[in-house]
Amino acid sequence: MTKENENDFIVTPWEVHGKVDYNKLMERFGTEPIDEALLERIKKHTGELHYMLRRGTFFTHRDMNFILNELERGNKFHLYTGRGPSEDIHIGHLVPWVFTKWLQDKFDVKFIFQLTDDEKFLFEEKLSKEDTYSFAIENACDVIALGFDPKNTEIIIDTDNAQTFYNIALPIAKKITYSTVKASFGFDNSINIGSVFYTSIQAVPAVLESVRQGKNVPCLIPHAIDQDPHFRLARDVLPRLGYYKPASIQCSFLPALGGPEGKMSASDPTQTVYVTDDPKTVEKKINKYAFSGGQVSVAEHRKKGGDPAVDVSYQWLKILLEEDDKKLKTLEEDYRNGDLLTGELKAILIDKLNVFLENHREKREKARDRLDEFLIKD
Ligand code: TRP
Repeated sequence: MTKENENDFIVTPWEVHGKVDYNKLMERFGTEPIDEALLERIKKHTGELHYMLRRGTFFTHRDMNFILNELERGNKFHLYTGRGPSEDIHIGHLVPWVFTKWLQDKFDVKFIFQLTDDEKFLFEEKLSKEDTYSFAIENACDVIALGFDPKNTEIIIDTDNAQTFYNIALPIAKKITYSTVKASFGFDNSINIGSVFYTSIQAVPAVLESVRQGKNVPCLIPHAIDQDPHFRLARDVLPRLGYYKPASIQCSFLPALGGPEGKMSASDPTQTVYVTDDPKTVEKKINKYAFSGGQVSVAEHRKKGGDPAVDVSYQWLKILLEEDDKKLKTLEEDYRNGDLLTGELKAILIDKLNVFLENHREKREKARDRLDEFLIKD
């Protein structure tokens, strides 16, 4: 879709290519780094910092200080994130959701989760409306499985809420020109017209609480950085309609199995682990495809050691699966100095991941009976 001439990588909501330089991306998008002062300020409210903050997985933001200023004046924010339901969830999707659950626990705030079955129908050639709707239901089970508070959480499937959403999206759409959408998302003239309208639908949950309550409610959106173009646009338009700008806190991507370049591609099953993958499949995928930062032979690895910065097994443990800083540090040191071999590191990841997935699958099956507690409809 897009050509970013001066650069060797591309990040849009629909396409990630090349080795992402996150510092450059922050500059390109115009987001702020999460610095020590902000971490301290968050910690004053939460008492501790989530490992995704401590380790820099969430590394950039827009307007976090506004969110905290308002909070400190007694004006609580709500959380909003979402998912385009085009397939089963893979473990990369869980990163922002696990963090959002922590934010909900710590701040005791309302959370809106948007399932954009309309988006995926419009953007994915092969998917029917029935397909995207049934993936929306499946993905809703994954969200519920993470333990969100049913009293404070709403899951919204777009097509089940068309009346509410269309009415709020209309004035937003009226303020966005075709040329802006083209430039923001890299569309060309072959794009279907539903896709051009779509970004106004993704802006709706950011103001839904304000519409309902008849006063401005701050909104904080935790998300992976590829979604930023939508919210950059929303931040431009919403104040012109009398709303606050939505704030965001953004994470980097979980690297694909084959290497640290870009995010996991949904379309390539050898590059991801789905939450539905059984233990044998997980073991095979990791042993076969997980990019190693180790040396070519055991002897050389013992001598020179491995590089955790590019080792996918280590990165998956660091970003999602090993919450314990001490254990992670030991793994890092042992790998770096050659005591820990790639095969051993992979075995640790396989065990951890399979325990995590078994537990998740148990919870997601229980969630199936609880959909009514979370899903809302017009
Ligand atoms: N467009 C997102 C996707 O394709 C789905 C989405 C909707 C979303 N609202 C969001 C993602 C808010 C992050 C935050 O997955």
